[in-house]
Amino acid sequence: PVSEPFCVPLPVPRVLSPVSTIGGVDVYRMSMRRTVREIFPGLPTEVLTYNGHFPGPVIRARSGRPVIVRQHNLLERPAAVHLHGASLSQRNDGNPMNTIAPGGTRSYVYPNRQPHASLWYHDHAHHMESEHVYRGLSGFYLLSDATECRLPLPSGDYDLPIAIRDAHFDDAGRLVYVMGDRSRTTLLANGVPYPYLEVAARRYRFRLLNSSNDRMLRLGLADGGPIVQIGSDGGLLPCPYETDSVFLSSGERADVVIDFSRYPVGTRLVLQNKAGSGAVDSLGQVLRFDVTRTADDPTEIPAVLRSLPPLPKATAERTVTLYMDEGRAAPPRGYIDGKVYDPDRVDSYVRFGASEIWTVTNVDKVIPHNFHIHLVQFRVLERNGRSPGPAESGLKDTVVLMPGDTVKLQATFDTYRGRYVYHCHMLDHSAMGMMATMKIV
Ligand code: C2O
Ligand code: CU
Repeated sequence: PVSEPFCVPLPVPRVLSPVSTIGGVDVYRMSMRRTVREIFPGLPTEVLTYNGHFPGPVIRARSGRPVIVRQHNLLERPAAVHLHGASLSQRNDGNPMNTIAPGGTRSYVYPNRQPHASLWYHDHAHHMESEHVYRGLSGFYLLSDATECRLPLPSGDYDLPIAIRDAHFDDAGRLVYVMGDRSRTTLLANGVPYPYLEVAARRYRFRLLNSSNDRMLRLGLADGGPIVQIGSDGGLLPCPYETDSVFLSSGERADVVIDFSRYPVGTRLVLQNKAGSGAVDSLGQVLRFDVTRTADDPTEIPAVLRSLPPLPKATAERTVTLYMDEGRAAPPRGYIDGKVYDPDRVDSYVRFGASEIWTVTNVDKVIPHNFHIHLVQFRVLERNGRSPGPAESGLKDTVVLMPGDTVKLQATFDTYRGRYVYHCHMLDHSAMGMMATMKIV
């Protein structure tokens, strides 16, 4: 189905309220369930949801204040909830093999001992995460702290999370899931195709997330106007920087500020996907900002946003290669260091307390990948032998690797011991085996 673009308002994802805050712990309840949504007028679309929301509700958390999420799996398949970008014990990480059986419940404990960051939660059930996330199992988890709150950045109604993803619908409005599908040509922003957002002529902060299975996005305004990127996966950048677009591979986040005060009331401004196949096709546009009113703006973007702790001296180095066997094997298989994921195998042993430099290479000639490590936020030291650009100057948990790219990153493993995965976050690829296990000992 095709929908007339810019007819439906951008949904603002609902912020979930805790069922209890006793003892300074925020307790939430969620249930995973199948629901029918009208994504296209008059057509029912079956989706998988947390609490009936597509995408899931937002959890707002504070560093130092624990959260417990009691998850009830009302689906007829196992599910595992991974909090992407969080530092968590193995039990709470949402490991692929650590699932909630159909009908079961479990409580995930999130101590929030890390600094602010725009995190997100999503399904991670072994061999099913890709389809589960595609069908709707993901949501924002916005962790804030005193450092962030002190800054005069746009907040409240002017701080909006936007999850952008592609999808393939059949003529009946059903979501079609096929691994590696190239027909996912509809873009959804917060679950809606091509919405509009009425904005005041002032600054807004947008937490952009690419929640696609494997589509790359380059997001920019149609007029090429400035966007200020202030944050990435692991929170604020050291300094803001002005750009005409931000690039996001699957799972990556960018915190941006757009100042609409330079546009007269009445302006309509399309947010484009400049990695689409054309400027005005269904992949080349995302949503439209309609400047509808003037407003006071007490906000500012400070020239310094945060200071990152100096990198410790690295104590170990290792290399990781990503490779995908497309054409030959059916179904295709994804490899890390020449091996397909086996949940019973440990691929890397990491000493607890180590600060390691990982040199990650996409050895494929044409297939892009990206790379995500559970448990840690890392620093990008080099991209193809050069210092990383400003978008990679902060804390990251996922990095893109275009064909032939090599990224050198440094991560410190001093929080938890146990088994965690690292993988390509193009979820169709991880489902094809491009995932490995590290054990911190
Ligand atoms: Cu968002 Cu293991 O992933
Ligand atoms: Cu990949």
